[in-house]
Amino acid sequence: MTKRLILGIETSCDDTSVCLLSAEKDQRSIINVLSLNQDNLLMKWGGVVPELAAREHVKAITPLIEASLNQAKLEFSDIDEIAVTTHPGLVGSLLAGINAAKTLSLFFEKPITPVNHLFAHLEAIHLTEKVSYPYLGLLVSGGHSVFFLVKNFDDMEVVGTTLDDAAGEAFDKGGKVLGVGYPAGKIIDELAKNGDRRKYHFPISYMKDRPGKMSFSGLKTSLRIQLQKMSKEEIELEKHHLCASYQEAIVQTLKVKTSEVIEKIISKKLPLVVGGGVACNSRLKEVLKSEFSECYFVAPEYCTDNAAMVANWASRAQTHRINFPDCLKIEAKSRYVEKK
Ligand code: KG4
Ligand code: ZN
Repeated sequence: MTKRLILGIETSCDDTSVCLLSAEKDQRSIINVLSLNQDNLLMKWGGVVPELAAREHVKAITPLIEASLNQAKLEFSDIDEIAVTTHPGLVGSLLAGINAAKTLSLFFEKPITPVNHLFAHLEAIHLTEKVSYPYLGLLVSGGHSVFFLVKNFDDMEVVGTTLDDAAGEAFDKGGKVLGVGYPAGKIIDELAKNGDRRKYHFPISYMKDRPGKMSFSGLKTSLRIQLQKMSKEEIELEKHHLCASYQEAIVQTLKVKTSEVIEKIISKKLPLVVGGGVACNSRLKEVLKSEFSECYFVAPEYCTDNAAMVANWASRAQTHRINFPDCLKIEAKSRYVEKK
C-alpha cells in the first residue's frame, strides 16, 4: 500500500473540523487538525440550534480546508481521498460537510469514504494506543451514551444504551440549571475539582432489572429540586460542591453500568475503550481506570468532535471507500441504524 493523503471533514453537530492525515501501511501521521467550535453562539442560546449550526458550518468549512492545505503547503490535487462524517448527526450540519466533500470530489475526481461518527469516536483510540479487537466500547458524548461490543473497525454491536438523555446532555442540562455556561461538561469538571462529591445526594438510576440500560433524565430534575431549596448566594457559594456531587452521580452510573454490561451482557472481560466528549472528564477517567484493569481512554484532543478521528477511521477502512462518481450519491443520515 502506498502513502495516501486523506482529508477528513467533520460537521455532524456544532464543531467544524478538518484534518490532513498521511497513511502508509499501519502508520498514520496527522499533518494538522483545524477546528472551529460554535461555543459563543451556543452560549447565547444555551444549546445547539440546528439551523444556526448548519449555517455556521457552511461559513466555516471552505476557509478551514484552505487554511489546512496552506498550513501544510499542499494543493488539493495532492489529496488522494476525502473522508466525511455522514451519520448520525444533525442533517443540516452533516450536509455542510458532505456537500464540501462532494464539490471537491467532483472538481478533482477523488473518492470519498463515508464515516460513521460513533465508530470514528471509538476507533480514535488507535491514534494513541494499541488495543486489539474485540473490545468493549463506551461512547459517551453530547448526543450518545452507548456500549458497543466492537468486533472490528466497522462491526460494532450495541450492547447497552441510555433510555433518555446522553451523559453529555446530563452535564449540559445540569450546567444550564446551575448557570455555569455551555457546553457545561468541561466547566463542571473544573469546578468539581475543588468540591466535595458526597455533600449533596443526587439519585443514581441503577435500573437493575434492565442490564445495560441507563437513564440520566431524572438527575437534572433532582438538581433543580435541590437548587429550589437554596438562595442565589448559597448556590454561588456551594457551586463546586454541587458540581462535584452532580458529576459523581453521572460517573458512578457509568461505572455501575459498565460492570453490569461486562458481567451480564458480554459475559467476558475485554479491554474497555472510552471515547466521545465526556471521555475528557477527569473523574470518569480516574474511576474507570481504577475499577477496570485494561481501560483505555481516547486522548482528550480526539475525544470531542474532530476530523482526525474521521480521517483515522477512513485510513483503516479502505473497503468502504467509494470511487468517483458513485461517491456523489452519498447521503446524510440523522440516525445510526444497526445492521441486522
Ligand atoms: O463528542 P462530542 O464533542 O459531541 C457529540 O458527539 O455529542 O461531545 C460533546 C459533549 C458535551 O456534552 C460536553 O459537555 C461534553 O462532551 N464534555 C465533557 C467534558 N468535555 C466535554 N463532559 C464532561 N467532562 C468534560 N471534561
Ligand atoms: Zn461526537
